Amino acid sequence: MLRNVMFIIIIMLFSTTVIILNCSPDKPEPVKSIVIGEKEFDPEVWGKAFTANYESWLKTKEPRKSGLSKYRKGWDDDKVVYDRLSEFPFSAILYNGWGFGVEYNEPRGHFFALTDIIEIDPSRTGPGGVCLACKTPYHKTLVQEKGDKYLKAEFEDALAMIPEKSGKLGPACIDCHKPNGMELVTNKLHIEKGLKMLGKKDPDLNEKRLLACAQCHMTYYVPRDEKMKTAAGVRPPWTGSEWGNISIENIIKDLLSDYQRQEWKQKVTGFKMPFIRHPEFEFFTKSSTHYNAGAGCADCHMPYIRSGSQKISDHNVMSPLKAEMKACLQCHAESSEWLKKQVITIQDRSASLVNRAGYATAVAAKLIETVHKEKTKGVKFDFDQSLYEKAVGFYKQAFLRIIFISAENSMGFHNPSEAGRVLGDAVAFASKSEALLRQILAQNKVNVPEKINLELGKYLNNRGQKKLKFKKDQVLGDPYGLQKEFNDAI
Ligand code: HEC
Ligand code: HEC
Ligand code: HEC
Ligand code: HEC
Repeated sequence: MLRNVMFIIIIMLFSTTVIILNCSPDKPEPVKSIVIGEKEFDPEVWGKAFTANYESWLKTKEPRKSGLSKYRKGWDDDKVVYDRLSEFPFSAILYNGWGFGVEYNEPRGHFFALTDIIEIDPSRTGPGGVCLACKTPYHKTLVQEKGDKYLKAEFEDALAMIPEKSGKLGPACIDCHKPNGMELVTNKLHIEKGLKMLGKKDPDLNEKRLLACAQCHMTYYVPRDEKMKTAAGVRPPWTGSEWGNISIENIIKDLLSDYQRQEWKQKVTGFKMPFIRHPEFEFFTKSSTHYNAGAGCADCHMPYIRSGSQKISDHNVMSPLKAEMKACLQCHAESSEWLKKQVITIQDRSASLVNRAGYATAVAAKLIETVHKEKTKGVKFDFDQSLYEKAVGFYKQAFLRIIFISAENSMGFHNPSEAGRVLGDAVAFASKSEALLRQILAQNKVNVPEKINLELGKYLNNRGQKKLKFKKDQVLGDPYGLQKEFNDAI
């Protein structure tokens, strides 16, 4: 039996390899003999040599069929935008205190990467020039030429250093390709730093395909000085990790290791905290089934398409659900309906767990707030300080695990079993924290109701913004019914 299974797996892996090899377009030759300058940023110029690729890249500005996706909706007609804090109301409490607690939108096409950061609430762009790291292809050049003058400049001033013509240019050909020969490259200093930390030298072709996306779809922190001002560029929290094994445990250890990584102050607890952004690379490469099978981001987000007589990789990078699962069919023989059902099932499970872990953590946050409030009222707490420290430690462990999975953009799909593991641990840490906090409060005769009032409305509606520019229709409320699911369960 086992041998049969092994045999089937070998056949499947073999056929996948064959499919991958068969699908590859021929070695890219410029359509016309045009030499692209080594520092050519303008995709239109590249487009003169690679018309089909350029045209498909331009399509990242087209509206998506976001109705086809369950958890990544929004931006259909460029007007409606989904607000992540409403999708996961507990995060309005946990993120309150800085930009992510003010405005946190679902992403849209690459074409808008720079536009959207220009339009976001200014509380999100406080760090200045560093914010442009994954938005403009000029970032590396500007850091090399101007250094801190650019990195630490006010956001508006840094923006003005980008040549006017490219003032709204997002991820461009030069971010991922060497101009002539089209070899895949990276164009970000933080991934170069990151690869050194991982001890990775000379990535092979498959790894380069992954890195072209990883250079932006990875987490980072912006080191701060004592006054919480931007101190240096963008850093990956990858101490102690290795290629193919960047665990959440190591990321958390790195992020909690010194004050420079605590980028903001969480309102509800008053703690300085680190944050985690879009860790697609870390999450996917942590032994996911698809990573282990040799697939890269482009296999699912840039399927091969026909363009006239040419076969090219679709540069209109987007969710495979919104692209009608075409990418999956390159390797899978199942129907697109079946595949879509698998995706949604995986995502439903992750969303439910994110929600459970998120509320458990929000409860711990409110109990920490209660302890602090009672203290300021003059209650002399009589408890072993280490008990409180343990509770706080568990709380941070839970909190960072929840951001890790919810800031990751696939709602668990990129690595379902890892999502289950991380969120299971988050629930356990949050519950331990809650139990210790209740113990401390009970010992000191502070009455705590069984059901904690999270005051969700307060956090969702009063985000502390000063200049929030709600230009688009925001989808507020509880679009996935997760809040209801939680209320029904308790
Ligand atoms: C230079 C930085 C950069 C690179 C390189 C990059 N991305 Fe992105 N990506 C972004 C940013 C920023 C956004 C969010 C844009 C927005 O919401 O305005 C984004 C959004 C996306 C989206 C959502 C698109 C949509 O239509 O909603 C997908 C999918 C995606 N990226 C996949 C990839 C893949 C796959 C690769 C590699 C082939 C890649 N990205 C390379 C920065 C980058
Ligand atoms: C096996 C296929 C597969 C691979 C490989 C894969 N993804 Fe995805 N990705 C998906 C699916 C499915 C979703 C969920 C889309 C949805 O819910 O609409 C997704 C979602 C995303 C999103 C959010 C899309 C949106 O519309 O907001 C981003 C960004 C993203 N992936 C980037 C990456 C990056 C970067 C990599 C490589 C590190 C990667 N993906 C590897 C299948 C894949
Ligand atoms: C976010 C990264 C990214 C950006 C931006 C990007 N490409 Fe690509 N490109 C890729 C990847 C990944 C492949 C697939 C390579 C492979 O499979 O080995 C690719 C493949 C190609 C190929 C080889 C033929 C094919 O279609 O597979 C050409 C030509 C090309 N790109 C041109 C361009 C041009 C022109 C632009 C700008 C308009 C551009 N690319 C922007 C990542 C990118
Ligand atoms: C490059 C080839 C390739 C692509 C593209 C690809 N898959 Fe897979 N997929 C595999 C392989 C290989 C396996 C492991 C063998 C198996 O279980 O079939 C796998 C496994 C799976 C599984 C079982 C997951 C698990 O963890 O056991 C699901 C579900 C799945 N794929 C869905 C998708 C969906 C949905 C897409 C498109 C978004 C997709 N795949 C794209 C090759 C691919």
